Amino acid sequence: MAPVASGPNGAFASNGAPAQAAQAPIDPTAARHEDKETIRIDSPNVTYSAEDIKSRYEYNTTHVQKSTNAQGKTEYVAKPVKSTYEFKTETKVPKTGLMLVGWGGNNGTTISACILANKHNITWHNKEGLQTPNYYGSLVRASTIRLGEDPETGKDVYVPFSNLLPTVHPNDFVVGGWDISGHSLTDAMTRAKVLDYDLQRQVAPYMADMKPLPSVYYPDFIAANQGERADNVIPGNDKAAHVEHVRKDIRDFKQANGLDKVIVVWTANTERYAEIIPGVNDTADNLLNAVKNSHEEVSPSTIFAVACILENAPYINGAPQNTFVPGAIQLAERHRAFIGGDDLKTGQTKVKSVIADFLVNAGIKPLGISSYNHLGNNDGYNLSSARQFRSKEISKASVVDDMVYANHLLYKRGAEADKASSAKAVAEKGEHPDHIVVIKHVPAVGDQKVAMDDYTSELCLGGRNRLYLTNLCEDSLLASPLLIDLAIMAELCTRVTYSAREGPAADSPAKPEEFQSLYSVLSLLSYSLKAPVVKPGSDVVNSLARQRSAVTNFMRACVGLQPENDLLLSQRLW
Ligand SMILES: NC(=O)c1ccc[n+]([C@@H]2O[C@H](COP(=O)([O-])OP(=O)(O)OC[C@H]3O[C@@H](n4cnc5c(N)ncnc54)[C@H](O)[C@@H]3O)[C@@H](O)[C@H]2O)c1
Repeated sequence: MAPVASGPNGAFASNGAPAQAAQAPIDPTAARHEDKETIRIDSPNVTYSAEDIKSRYEYNTTHVQKSTNAQGKTEYVAKPVKSTYEFKTETKVPKTGLMLVGWGGNNGTTISACILANKHNITWHNKEGLQTPNYYGSLVRASTIRLGEDPETGKDVYVPFSNLLPTVHPNDFVVGGWDISGHSLTDAMTRAKVLDYDLQRQVAPYMADMKPLPSVYYPDFIAANQGERADNVIPGNDKAAHVEHVRKDIRDFKQANGLDKVIVVWTANTERYAEIIPGVNDTADNLLNAVKNSHEEVSPSTIFAVACILENAPYINGAPQNTFVPGAIQLAERHRAFIGGDDLKTGQTKVKSVIADFLVNAGIKPLGISSYNHLGNNDGYNLSSARQFRSKEISKASVVDDMVYANHLLYKRGAEADKASSAKAVAEKGEHPDHIVVIKHVPAVGDQKVAMDDYTSELCLGGRNRLYLTNLCEDSLLASPLLIDLAIMAELCTRVTYSAREGPAADSPAKPEEFQSLYSVLSLLSYSLKAPVVKPGSDVVNSLARQRSAVTNFMRACVGLQPENDLLLSQRLW
């Protein structure tokens, strides 16, 4: 089943890996920019030491109060509010492990091959000619941040995103993980049918010894059609023992590879939703108890969440199911552990979080968004089962909610919505565009997912605007860089601490004991996530532009720079 392992000229290097004919130049997205350029902030608010960067940061927001005066006129009173924080970012990048749940799947094998190809700078041929490895599609590795402008030329100055703060280079991740299928990574990569054969055959020798650890398998949570893969499972029905097993796997992996940290990402099959049952998974204690009693509503992905929280390993859910039941969020808060999710925002939903934003902010009113997908990979096969599809449908459903909510001129709210005639009224959301999502499994198209959307919008004077979009996306090649980003950003978030500077000590630098970690739910990862989990009670932001500016401005705050804005006064004033 595995690809034949011979080099471009049939030659082998001494380690059994194929010999490379000649080293190709390293792609800029894989280059170690930190070796060639540094960024230093020249400001009294920023201090550098051998261990960290500290920034004193003024956070300016606006509080708004809405009231109705005696004449019945609504008044908004907006008040600028200032708070001061000190951020501390540890600068030593730790040796980091990336453990994937579902390592033997399309994403798991593609990430592994991508990292190996970049690390060993493996070039390969396909029908387009010679290909070189890169990290295209990664926000962290392949995009830039505008640092500022050159005062002499007035030109913008951009730096690699990965370089504003020290981040793990993906080539340095030690990759491992679990899968209910015991195929070696080489065989699993062949099964996935994602990569060009010439690349497969060259990364194969590096993967031959990689074999997923047995995993937690509760057949009720994924489609029955996945049963035939499940030949590598942790035995027994004792869920508490499963948590301990996974915890030990993480510790062993850390020790065997001399790691400082391990990040765990769920890229396994989409599970059905777990029912939220009071007394079972609604609080941290109830969840721990449910695990102890092996309650049937505790899913494998939540077993991994509990294990990671208890091991203090950041855990990201790349699939749509509700892994983070309220009890899991509370448990993470209690342990000050980091979690993030849900579901990768790769193709259709990512585009939707741009198009809907554009339409609504342009004053054009989307009336209906109809989205069709068909795909032929194992993810599609699993999603052909109704309960697993439902998880995906839910995660795709809310993506335009915040944009619609932001424009009460176009979309009526509350009671008024019931009277709306041009678009469907949804009781709890107010007036809302019709929004449907269909996913079909078509084996013939393999990993080449086809996503088709129809945006029907209302223009002035009763006009209609129809926007049709077809996106042929290589699913796993879109998803893998996102998973890499999630792991890099989660790791970075573990190195940032802050202290709120208020009261009598406001002007003095924070003492070491005054710094605390970021909030457990890493909503800063939202850019890569379809249905972001956020702090309970806060609003979800789906707009891609807002998500990106949140993360870049957060990084700027860590180095004492004000948020980026497009005021560009130098262009507007004499
Ligand atoms: N590729 C994308 O564009 C994309 C986008 C958004 C979300 N996702 C989600 O990412 C996940 C992975 O996608 P994929 O294309 O790699 O799917 P895949 O089916 O190829 O891989 C999933 C792997 O998980 C394994 N698995 C199932 N249950 C497991 C468990 N309990 N423990 C360990 N391993 C288990 C399977 O054996 C399989 O190897 C899916 O849930 C999918 O919905 C993918």
